[in-house]
Amino acid sequence: MIYMDNAATTLHKPEAVKQAVMEAFDTMGNAGRGASEPALDAARVIYRAREKLARFFHAENPSTIVFTANSTESLNIAVKGLFSPGDHVITTVLEHNSVLRPLYECSQIGVELTILSCDKKGNISYDEMEKAIRENTKAIVCTHASNLTGNMIDLERTGQIAKRHGLLLVVDASQTAGVWPIDVHALGIDVLCFTGHKSLLGPQGTGGMYVRTGVKIRPLLSGGSGVDTYNTHHPEQMPTALEAGTLNGYGIAGLSAAISFLEETGLDVIREKELRLMRKFYEGVSCIPGVTVYGDFDTEQRSPIVSLNIGDYDSSEVSDELNMTYGIVTRPGAHCAPLMHRALGTVEQGAVRFSFSHYNTEEEVAFAVNAIKELTEQEGNDNEFI
Ligand code: ALA
Repeated sequence: MIYMDNAATTLHKPEAVKQAVMEAFDTMGNAGRGASEPALDAARVIYRAREKLARFFHAENPSTIVFTANSTESLNIAVKGLFSPGDHVITTVLEHNSVLRPLYECSQIGVELTILSCDKKGNISYDEMEKAIRENTKAIVCTHASNLTGNMIDLERTGQIAKRHGLLLVVDASQTAGVWPIDVHALGIDVLCFTGHKSLLGPQGTGGMYVRTGVKIRPLLSGGSGVDTYNTHHPEQMPTALEAGTLNGYGIAGLSAAISFLEETGLDVIREKELRLMRKFYEGVSCIPGVTVYGDFDTEQRSPIVSLNIGDYDSSEVSDELNMTYGIVTRPGAHCAPLMHRALGTVEQGAVRFSFSHYNTEEEVAFAVNAIKELTEQEGNDNEFI
């Protein structure tokens, strides 16, 4: 099998990640619940993971790192906990439903929404972003990279706009954390939402958020915290304020090992390889007659994703054929990014997404290019492969 669906989840993880999870099964009690050796062991593992993530994202201290189950949970906490009726929020058509749906829910209770459009290549305009700001604008909520095209939003420019107008900047880093370095302070990010199971190479069920010191978010959940038991309210100190109930300690142990792996290997090394593979694939397929590739490839600042279609074949049909005939795993259909599909005109057809990991090889890419070439050469009836 050739796995090229790394934007959905990375399948191949470092050995150290698997070992850390297995070890946690044998050693971990419940962090913050009592002072037994297993409970302390869990607390130490989780604290070390917070320290590593704080360092990884250049956060001011480990207490700014909150653990959640995934980006969706982080984004729900951020969006529903930050905005109130009468606030205005700016977002973009690049967003995943994990940003859009919580924002749509907020708009039903009176939060005003502006969704920035994109050009043919799938890029937003920063002039449009600045022009959209109103007196009641509270925040810009945006992805770092589209999960459909791989196009990135320039966070430096966005951060400057947010700073100039005193807005919060909330970023969905699902497709970039672990590929591109993210310095929350240099970029002026107030809330960064990330998932553990994609390019961070951790287990599914792990994720989190950075919340800048002083940014107040109403918690989505309240309950067990291990501290301040007789308080009728959930504790307000971070990160406990946004973490109710037992954490996914086993997963966090794996995520912690994954961060160490990324630091030891070097994000530059990982990114250089992933982008090289992406570029090789793009150059191989974009010149094949009948193939349409989406997104902007005239820039180095991308996430390692290539989405395409062959003629007007249904993307699911192409992806099935890639899987069954060539053993290549891709993601077809709609990618939980409805506005991006609308902008690209792929609502009906969807798109076949190839997304690369540094575990992929040049040979796999060459094989995948050849598979696309062969599929485009097949004569079919009624848009079915024969
Ligand atoms: N959001 C994930 C993707 O883009 C699942 O495939």
